[in-house]
Amino acid sequence: MRLFILFAKEDPKISKAEVHSLLDGKVLEETDEYCVVDGSIDYSRLVFSRYACSVLSEGVPKGLPAYKSFAVRATKLKSFKNSAREVERDVASRIKGKVDLEKGTVIRVFCGDELWVTEELWAYTQKQFKARDVNARPSFNPTSLQPKTARLLLNLANARKNVLDPFCGVGGILLEAGVLGIKATGIELDEKWAEGATENAWFYRVDKKVKIVNADFLEWKGKEFECIVTDLPYGKSSGLFGKKREELYSKAFKKFHTHTGKCVVMAQEDLRPLLKKAGWETKFFHSFYVHKSMRRYIHACSAKS
Ligand SMILES: C[S@@+](CC[C@H](N)C(=O)[O-])C[C@H]1O[C@@H](n2cnc3c(N)ncnc32)[C@H](O)[C@@H]1O
Repeated sequence: MRLFILFAKEDPKISKAEVHSLLDGKVLEETDEYCVVDGSIDYSRLVFSRYACSVLSEGVPKGLPAYKSFAVRATKLKSFKNSAREVERDVASRIKGKVDLEKGTVIRVFCGDELWVTEELWAYTQKQFKARDVNARPSFNPTSLQPKTARLLLNLANARKNVLDPFCGVGGILLEAGVLGIKATGIELDEKWAEGATENAWFYRVDKKVKIVNADFLEWKGKEFECIVTDLPYGKSSGLFGKKREELYSKAFKKFHTHTGKCVVMAQEDLRPLLKKAGWETKFFHSFYVHKSMRRYIHACSAKS
């Protein structure tokens, strides 16, 4: 199926990477505003896109399907200089059915150099994360990841079955994995945070999917996982327990190989050289602001063959 995906405005590089990781198929066209893909993608997981729509036509066709009820909404892309209202009227006049702006099937027209006439399948909403916001969780840790960022990391790993977070804190990544129906194991050295992660998993009813172990990851003997997704300890409030940061990271990265061939690592610095030394190839790298003044670096890696 051909899909039109409109990216969020924040960061096209992340939008593209997220779609590419989740897509089972090919990208037919791509700009900084949107992409058109052919294949299957679990678009309802996306957090850096606004809409996913099935393509009805490229350009306005003479005939369009009939709908019981529908609403046409046009979005102007950067290159479009004409009136979106006129496009809405023109497209609506070619559809048989009752206009219902509240409950009708949404026909989205994306107006750029070309007009893309589509049917909306999914629209992003920030509301989906409200209940799991860091401040809404029963166990609170200020360094914990917001659900949207946790979801992004899982998407960049294309996590589907079972994931390991070796530095899980109060479980920001584990919760999102659980909500997506992915099995997740978290390792946490601080007993208080390990208990917090367990409490959060119970509270959000993902405890059947999520397992938390109170242990030092470097000592932990675990099984194999589809991928590792983690936000590393930074050595301030998310402590290093007396270990030197570079030494901890480098030992951890080497140990990752015993558990998986794929990892997504978030850190407060560019760790590509250290990952390379430990046998990881960084396939995607990007830095972005988690809050106004907090910059983070994402590394999506595969084991070097
Ligand atoms: C940045 S925090 C993770 C936050 C987490 N992503 C969340 O959403 O709550 C890193 C965590 O790693 C834990 N940690 C540090 N060294 C560890 C080790 N050797 N083994 C396991 N956990 C460790 C810290 O206690 C801290 O909670």
